[in-house]
Amino acid sequence: MKILVTGGAGFIGSNFIYYMLSQHPDYDIVCLDALTYAGNLRTLESALKNKRFKFVKGDITDRAGVLELFRNEKFDIAVNFAAESHVDRSIMDPGIFLSTNVMGTQVLLDACREFGVSRFHQISTDEVYGDLPLDRPDLFFTEETPIRASSPYSASKAGADLLVLAYHRTFGLPVTISRCSNNYGPYHFPEKLIPMIIVNLLHNKPIPVYGTGENIRDWLYVEDHCRAVDLILHKGRAGEVYNVGGHNEMKNIDVVKLVIAELGKSEDLITYVKDRAGHDKRYAIDPTKIQTELGWSPQVKFKDGIKTTVQWYLDNRQWWEDLISGDYLKYYEKMYLNR
Ligand code: NAD
Ligand code: TYD
Repeated sequence: MKILVTGGAGFIGSNFIYYMLSQHPDYDIVCLDALTYAGNLRTLESALKNKRFKFVKGDITDRAGVLELFRNEKFDIAVNFAAESHVDRSIMDPGIFLSTNVMGTQVLLDACREFGVSRFHQISTDEVYGDLPLDRPDLFFTEETPIRASSPYSASKAGADLLVLAYHRTFGLPVTISRCSNNYGPYHFPEKLIPMIIVNLLHNKPIPVYGTGENIRDWLYVEDHCRAVDLILHKGRAGEVYNVGGHNEMKNIDVVKLVIAELGKSEDLITYVKDRAGHDKRYAIDPTKIQTELGWSPQVKFKDGIKTTVQWYLDNRQWWEDLISGDYLKYYEKMYLNR
């Protein structure tokens, strides 16, 4: 079995590569990644020592390059993690989100049609459903919830999802889609909330909390997401969407306070800043379908996952110290200075 993993030098894709290499000793994995600001080859250092793993630097929007790769490698399965993934960046500059997330997905779908795969899996997000009100804890996203994206990021992911399903209906391509809630864990780029809290605390820098900090996210440890994708690839039905989430809803401010306590720092570092434009209030997944159909359930409790994650950032300082210098510093100043 040979699997293409696009975007595997990023957060979830790299965790997925390590998960698959360990779970399937007979699988070969090829990672295609453009190494944007979010991609980091150092993350794949150990994988690169494995004979069953190969890295190819390339852009999913480069049609000729992608077709050549498919021609040479003859993939059985393609899993698309490659994306522009940060909501705040999509507010600053939406264009690249459409190009990578929508057009890039189309190139991959065309390559899968041309060369044939037994499965194309699209890594999507619960953000395609828009948000839920804070005062209706009884409501959850199911696979039947209408698409109602709020940000240019989620709109681009929704566009890709519709295209993936259209390629199934029109061309019979064997596709699946997973829509997962917020992930956390090792190799998470420090622009996102949880790694930003850790990194800022380790530098005794303020933690910027948008608005009042009441917004709710449904956090899932990244390995539980990887396990879900593995199950969908092997047991999921073509043409289906699977929501992935573990009923672990938390207010942002409570996440911030928990990490502060974990690191023994002061809550004085919390700084409330101007809210994100169009900020989604609450995400909450109903995972009934993947639980009943595929037997998936999350295995890592948040209190354990967050401990492991904090410890990982303490043990791998060099990994993130390098990332937060240079271009990222410029982004950080543009995003947070005078906010
Ligand atoms: P990330 O930003 O950490 O990684 C994205 C990777 O894609 C990087 O390695 C980057 O170099 C690569 N990439 C970007 N543009 C590319 C292009 N044009 N061609 C090839 N490679 C390209 O993202 P992540 O957090 O790991 O998210 C991975 C996927 O999971 C995304 O599709 C995202 O929408 C989805 N998702 C993320 C979360 C989350 O909490 N992070 C939750 C649900 C779904
Ligand atoms: P983020 O990690 O960007 O994920 P997403 O927006 O895709 O859910 O943000 C998680 C939550 O944390 C979201 O409600 C926005 C909030 N947030 C802050 O309050 N401050 C920050 O500096 C960042 C990056 C996010």
